[in-house]
Amino acid sequence: MRHFISVHDVTNIDALVSKALSYKGDPLKDKKLGANKRIGCLFLNPSMRTRLSTQIAAQNLGMDVIVFNVGSEGWALEFEEEAIMSGNTVEHVKDAAPIMGKYFDILAIRTFPSLKNREDDYSELFIKQFVKYAGIPVVSLESATLHPLQSLTDVMTITEEIQKSKVKRQASKVKIVLTWAPHVKPLPQCVANSFAQWINAWKQTEFVITHPEDYELSKEFTDGATITRDQDEALRNADFVYVKNWSTYNDYGKIYCNDPEWMLTKDKLSITNNAKVMHCLPVRRNVELSDEILDSPSSLVTEEAGNRVWAAQAVLTEILNG
Ligand code: CP
Repeated sequence: MRHFISVHDVTNIDALVSKALSYKGDPLKDKKLGANKRIGCLFLNPSMRTRLSTQIAAQNLGMDVIVFNVGSEGWALEFEEEAIMSGNTVEHVKDAAPIMGKYFDILAIRTFPSLKNREDDYSELFIKQFVKYAGIPVVSLESATLHPLQSLTDVMTITEEIQKSKVKRQASKVKIVLTWAPHVKPLPQCVANSFAQWINAWKQTEFVITHPEDYELSKEFTDGATITRDQDEALRNADFVYVKNWSTYNDYGKIYCNDPEWMLTKDKLSITNNAKVMHCLPVRRNVELSDEILDSPSSLVTEEAGNRVWAAQAVLTEILNG
């Protein structure tokens, strides 16, 4: 693997998941693999899980890690080609990225969308410019439209649950539902896009997406899933319910509906097949997801966030092995 930007960088999802699970069983087994290698983790936006889990993963492989909060501590970067830099940006990525390429062996970057202009966000200019100019492998720590480390973790967590379940189930009999949830702020579509992209590429399970009118996602990511506005119908017999808010895609970056009826409750969960509930976190309690679910045995959110370490470790190993 050269870069890790989307599911398209992965040749075998199950093999990558197995590697992640193997690190969960034995975190330090490849402690020498990253000796004398350094990863730079650049954050243009806030993070807790991604930041900490990626550092731990790199350290488990013996790598040096430097975290740089570019968004709050660095020079404001310019990403447009041929920009006349007479505004607020101080340094062009064309100048900054090759320097990162000298300092690091792997560059990992988090950069959120503006949610102002869909074409700009979906062009993924920021991460593409780092890939173009850094000259070293680039890992997405969440980009304008995708969050691949989260999605790999999610597939890993689902796989682990299927393997753990007392009643052995074939993945093909498993039903996964991605449901929209209310939120007070317009959020990116990244996690939902990425989850849909990975579950569709995985091709192991039944996959249903449910959301209110106006919250359609890009077909680029959802094609292959069943899509319905009837949340109850979607939830019926579900084995996994992935809860996430996203803002509108068509009339870009808006909140059209904040209907609390869309929040998953224990009542709604009763029509599932005793489903496990997932969320990437952070979560707005009693807006996106109720306390009664988050604090119940149905919730996988803490296990899921813990698994972020092993997913990141599997990806870094693939890159270090070239
Ligand atoms: N899920 C996730 O990416 O969390 P952070 O934003 O805290 O990294």
